[in-house]
Amino acid sequence: MTPMRQEISPQEIERQKEICARIRRSLGRGERYAMVDTYGCQQNESDSEVLRGYFREMGYAITDDEQRADVIAVNTCAVREHAQMRVLGNVGALTHIKREHPERIVILCGCMAQSREIREQVKRSYRMVDLCFGPNELWRFPELMERTLQVHGLPGGRGRVFEATDNAAVAEGMPRARDGSVKAWLAIMNGCNNFCTYCIVPYVRGRERSRRSADVVSEARALVEAGYKDITLLGQNVNSYGRGLDEETDFADLLRTVNDIPGDFRIRFMTSHPKDATEKLFRTMAECEKCAPHLHLPVQSGSNAILKAMNRGYTREKYLSQVELARSYLPDLVLTTDVIVGFPGETEEDFLDTLRLTEQVGFDSMFTFIYSRRPGTPAAQWEDDTPRDVIQNRFDRLLRSANDVSAALHKAQEGKTFRVLVDGVNRNGEYNLSSRTAGGRLVHLKGDETLIGRWAQARIVGSNTYALFGEIVG
Ligand code: SAH
Ligand code: SF4
Ligand code: F3S
Repeated sequence: MTPMRQEISPQEIERQKEICARIRRSLGRGERYAMVDTYGCQQNESDSEVLRGYFREMGYAITDDEQRADVIAVNTCAVREHAQMRVLGNVGALTHIKREHPERIVILCGCMAQSREIREQVKRSYRMVDLCFGPNELWRFPELMERTLQVHGLPGGRGRVFEATDNAAVAEGMPRARDGSVKAWLAIMNGCNNFCTYCIVPYVRGRERSRRSADVVSEARALVEAGYKDITLLGQNVNSYGRGLDEETDFADLLRTVNDIPGDFRIRFMTSHPKDATEKLFRTMAECEKCAPHLHLPVQSGSNAILKAMNRGYTREKYLSQVELARSYLPDLVLTTDVIVGFPGETEEDFLDTLRLTEQVGFDSMFTFIYSRRPGTPAAQWEDDTPRDVIQNRFDRLLRSANDVSAALHKAQEGKTFRVLVDGVNRNGEYNLSSRTAGGRLVHLKGDETLIGRWAQARIVGSNTYALFGEIVG
């Protein structure tokens, strides 16, 4: 049985905003700064915008300068051990700031904070952390912050606040300070029900829950009215959007409704799970002129035995037929993927299946990861006796092949002209601007920075593994 979908009431969110106002008054006059450091996926980037939104309501100015920040929040990722170690290293390094300025506040939030073991470790060994809370607590960050400030206000007070519940609920109406003015994240759902056997996300992000389509569409409309031109709909598995809602809708319907919003903008989305991508989705993408012809379709492995052990719910044949179906609707489709190398029990033959599949499909870009054991997941219990150097060697071969494929696909774009959205500056080299094609390919351009946020026609004059280089022709 699916548990009831829980919502945080608008009154609750209002109460949080009142707490922000109270904090603002109690802090009094004078500039105060908050910094938010983000690890992990776009969902975390999106959550960090909420943190910054709340900080602003509390009267903090946002800074990137660690030295001047009165509050430092680290929004963490637990997906791989390496990412986790990096976070702990960087948080540990804050000791010196805390020693000089004991009144400053350090916050560790996000996916790592949802793990009991990590919370215990932080409590014991990371004394510089004053407040630690998991993703389910994001909506009530102001109340946790107020408690932390009160603890700090006590003479000689050494209390710290640790909070992580399993109450995964949908919250609307939180303030948000967005990062840019051209591209925007729009979270349409949160959590995951798939339980791939290697993955920590369902444990730290909770069960999948979708926002109401009316809420998503009104946020999209507001973004378009504010001038955003590139909107990415976010979810761990957008293809299962709508399950558990008391309205008849699915992801393809949502795409179409967002596409109907008047304005010149592009719609992207991630991530699509191959087992849930439907013909209706591909048809909708083809019919909706604002929908980018881009699919990030993580394959993870090309071996049926490994896919089964991963609990991915599809075979290599099914994956390949999904790709074929998508391409039949979208001839210019740009495909990207994620692959894990070195899953427990992966043999050389399994790996070769992966290598052959990726070469057969021809991904524009590929995110390759070495399997990382996540305690608490099923795969963490399995025997994992492939030597590290064998795995590293597979990883290197896959990466080389992926780079060759990307370079060849990019080379094939030379001479073509694309409509691109100029979205920022490129600091490396003479091509000073960066832009994206509809398919999401990165194009570096030369031109005036006033072009940022505008559309342009770019003729591709060069390329490498990672990007295209273009000339503005109109
Ligand atoms: N929901 C998305 C993926 C989110 S995590 C999806 O299912 O497609 C992003 C990527 O991290 C995954 O696609 C996977 O390739 C990788 N990943 C997740 N857990 C991992 C682990 N334990 N070790 C190595 N890579 C992992
Ligand atoms: Fe993790 Fe699988 Fe869910 Fe993606 S679909 S977040 S890989 S459990
Ligand atoms: Fe990491 Fe959490 Fe995203 S574990 S990948 S930040 S959902």
